[in-house]
Amino acid sequence: MSTVRKIGFYGMGNMGQAMLKGLVKAGYPVDDLLIYNRHGAVAEELAAEYGVTAIQTPEDLAKASQVILFAVKPAILPGVLQALAPVLTKEQSLISVAAGISLGQMADLLSQEHKLFRVMPNTPALVGEGMSAVAHNEPVTLEEVQEVLGIFNSFGKAELVEEKLIDAVVGVAGSAPAYVYLFIEALADGAVSEGMSREMAYEFAAQTVLGSAQMVLKTKAHPGALKDQVTSPGGTTIAAVKELEDRGLRSAVINAVKVAAQKNREMSQQ
Ligand SMILES: NC(=O)c1ccc[n+]([C@@H]2O[C@H](COP(=O)([O-])OP(=O)(O)OC[C@H]3O[C@@H](n4cnc5c(N)ncnc54)[C@H](OP(=O)(O)O)[C@@H]3O)[C@@H](O)[C@H]2O)c1
Repeated sequence: MSTVRKIGFYGMGNMGQAMLKGLVKAGYPVDDLLIYNRHGAVAEELAAEYGVTAIQTPEDLAKASQVILFAVKPAILPGVLQALAPVLTKEQSLISVAAGISLGQMADLLSQEHKLFRVMPNTPALVGEGMSAVAHNEPVTLEEVQEVLGIFNSFGKAELVEEKLIDAVVGVAGSAPAYVYLFIEALADGAVSEGMSREMAYEFAAQTVLGSAQMVLKTKAHPGALKDQVTSPGGTTIAAVKELEDRGLRSAVINAVKVAAQKNREMSQQ
């Protein structure tokens, strides 16, 4: 990260904690990390665990931070921004991870001059393997974009996207860990039905998904080419692939991504 500024976290639920943990692990100076949670005990406990500072009120958090990460549910965010509007400045970077709340909606609650970021992370951020998309509005500078990418790269990978792609990001990354867990569970169920213990089956299934993902990322080979390498003529793998194709795995996944994207689009328009 090029500059070190005070980062305030508003909301220490799953996402807030994942992001805090990522930044601490990445070596962000703990003196510059401030946290607020409406149930103060949660913030106090995290402050003791990570050496960061718990702040008692949203107003104090807003006044003390140059970057504010809002990690509250979408239904809560508008009220939070509205209440803080008098103390938020046009120099601060204001980051929301709330699904379905657009940059335009945030600007309507504050102003067009505020520096606004809309980020879609996912929960593997909890283990430092998140995938986040970052979109921002006009007043944001290149340096501020780099700063925010640095924050989200500290617990996985982050890509700058046009805001219109956020719906696709929800489908392919924000919601997608759930589909991958379904796949892992089903893989393991298959192995259990063949006599493997449950514990061993989850290890085999999860490590295989992890290894296959690393093959795609590290070799940069087309997933289809990697699949071809595993499928020997007349062998076991092509028999299994045919079964998945017969049962529509590919179109089910494509439709799942589109349905999640559409749901997010609808939420943004409410
Ligand atoms: N989880 C995901 O996979 C994921 C992925 C991408 C984006 N997001 C986004 O991340 C945001 C947070 O999600 P999450 O999973 O972290 O939710 P969460 O675990 O339920 O945490 C929500 C946080 O908001 C606080 N909160 C609830 N009601 C509040 C209120 N009325 N005023 C002030 N604070 C309030 C909670 O405080 P208390 O604990 O004290 O109640 C908690 O700190 C959401 O907008 C979601 O769209 C989540």
